[in-house]
Amino acid sequence: MAVRPILRMGHPVLRVRAREVTAEDWVDLPALVQDMKDTMHQARGVGLAAPQIGVSLRVVIFGFETNERYPDAEAVPETVIINPQWGALGDGEEEDWEGCLSVPGLRGWVPRSKALEYSGWTLDRRPLERKVEGFHARVIQHECDHLDGILYPMRMRDLSRLGFVEELFPDPDQRPADD
Ligand code: NI
Repeated sequence: MAVRPILRMGHPVLRVRAREVTAEDWVDLPALVQDMKDTMHQARGVGLAAPQIGVSLRVVIFGFETNERYPDAEAVPETVIINPQWGALGDGEEEDWEGCLSVPGLRGWVPRSKALEYSGWTLDRRPLERKVEGFHARVIQHECDHLDGILYPMRMRDLSRLGFVEELFPDPDQRPADD
């Protein structure tokens, strides 16, 4: 289908709450999701939210077997989720490096809930519900934030830990792939 341009931090579509998908939207979803997959794979991302390609609807995709941007992350199943919702399980929190295709070249140290349950709808209109933790939980929180106009730097507590990949990780062997 089509690789679409990825909007970057500052674009107004990334700053607003995306609207819920309704029954009338559904006919257009397969084409939208295909464009999102093509765009995410070309950018070697682990997730993408519809607003990142300029569509202000509550649709996210994510998942990978292995990813050169996050070489140490455990695999996450390839998932399409419509109108996702999540809630934390417990109050455990963990911090880790995070990047975003809409904030190219940078990484930040971001606190996230450690474990959560999430739900929503698949592209074939089946309910989806999972309990997850670790990197999978981090990806869900990051992608759902996009649907509410939030980018990861807005979740950081210490902006001194926001920086360019090459500066944060001077040793090329330790460096996640650049955007
Ligand atoms: Ni992102």
